[in-house]
Amino acid sequence: MIKPFRLDARRGGNGIYRGIAHSFLLVVLFAGNVLAESPVPASQTMKFEDFELELPTGLNREDFYLPPDNPINKDKVALGRSLFFDPRLSSDNTVSCASCHSPQAAFSDKRQVSLGVGLQAGDRNAPTIINRAFSRGQFWDGRTNSLEEQSKAPLINPREMAMPSHELLVKKLGDIRGYKSWFKRVFARDVNIDDLAKAIAAFERTVVSGNAKYDVFKAGNQQALNQAEKRGLALFEGKARCSQCHSGPNFTDEKYHNIGVGWDATLVDLGRYKVTHNEQDIGAFKTPTLREIAGTAPYMHNGAFATLEETVAFYNMGGIANPFLDVEMRRPKLTLEQMLEYYEKRNDPGKPSPDTELTKLELTKGEQADLVAFLKTLSGQGWQHITPPDSFPE
Ligand code: HEC
Ligand code: HEC
Repeated sequence: MIKPFRLDARRGGNGIYRGIAHSFLLVVLFAGNVLAESPVPASQTMKFEDFELELPTGLNREDFYLPPDNPINKDKVALGRSLFFDPRLSSDNTVSCASCHSPQAAFSDKRQVSLGVGLQAGDRNAPTIINRAFSRGQFWDGRTNSLEEQSKAPLINPREMAMPSHELLVKKLGDIRGYKSWFKRVFARDVNIDDLAKAIAAFERTVVSGNAKYDVFKAGNQQALNQAEKRGLALFEGKARCSQCHSGPNFTDEKYHNIGVGWDATLVDLGRYKVTHNEQDIGAFKTPTLREIAGTAPYMHNGAFATLEETVAFYNMGGIANPFLDVEMRRPKLTLEQMLEYYEKRNDPGKPSPDTELTKLELTKGEQADLVAFLKTLSGQGWQHITPPDSFPE
């Protein structure tokens, strides 16, 4: 997964940066502000067949993505919950989805990288599965486009649940009488991998978080945030320019950015590039949600930072220099002309490039603490009632 990487891979540019520069800049310059101004959706009940989902204040039901061929109902969600927590979905019955997406860690993993069957280590930190219904792209590099597709991967990943094949898993579950009849009830047919994925995805869509102190404040209650948290919010949307990428109700633009994480190591994870093979995606990762961020340490695709303080200090330095560092990481200091020049130079191997200069945020210690205080106001409600089932089908 992680390959050695030579910095001269960008040579021989093809003008791609220049081509996208104009439209891209408009997005860069306006996206953060527009989204920050939009009104806060009130809590609302989403009604499905025989199942109701409370969407807490702050989440936007228009952004809730439900594929037409996988409607939600109560029994399907219950089946998905059982499958999510059941370690028998792994080759040696020791690892469930919840082993790496644990309710105790806001459905993420406290370990820097996850450990699968036989305690084998993976390459990346497990993100939370909270609020995944609001995104299409799944995984740090967005290599799958739905939760259904995503959930099939860990089952047969040799370093995760390590089943030799989907066929063998289907056979294993089909031999458990309780599952056989449960699948029949929900899908009117025998256990199969697509229905298994659908049940898990339906369950995951019910794991939501909103109504955080931040949402209550945005909805008009001035008392919801204290002074430090309010200063932190102003920094988040202003001087620290976090909301350029962490925008909208789920604090993500759903885009991929290279912010330099991991570029101080000898081996670099190429991230989104491995999916698209576009040069501008080298080292880019999906902007993750910041909801429940206080509970999902360690942070970043490689779990590099143990605390929010370390994470903010990283941004304060301007990230880590590399030739593919996202232009949004340097926005505060650049004029429109300078940004265009930046794209020009980027494709010209003869010219010294400005790429290695970092734009420091120059936040004082106090401002960094305020920003951390603000991030902690993003812990909310909507997932705490979801616990492992008392028993599994026999
Ligand atoms: C051994 C640990 C492990 C197990 C078991 C595991 N995951 Fe994950 N999960 C991860 C890691 C690590 C990632 C990030 C990998 C990447 O992006 O390349 C991830 C990513 C995800 C994502 C994408 C989240 C996002 O923000 O893009 C979802 C959804 C998810 N897992 C659900 C599941 C489900 C459902 C199961 C069970 C079928 C499962 N996981 C089993 C470790 C695990
Ligand atoms: C250029 C876009 C961009 C900007 C600006 C930005 N972020 Fe991020 N943020 C990302 C991306 C992309 C990641 C994931 C990077 C990785 O794992 O390599 C991330 C990850 C994080 C994480 C870790 C999340 C997790 O689940 O591990 C935190 C916390 C965070 N950002 C907070 C902030 C704060 C605070 C600011 C402002 C100081 C900020 N971000 C500015 C794009 C951005």
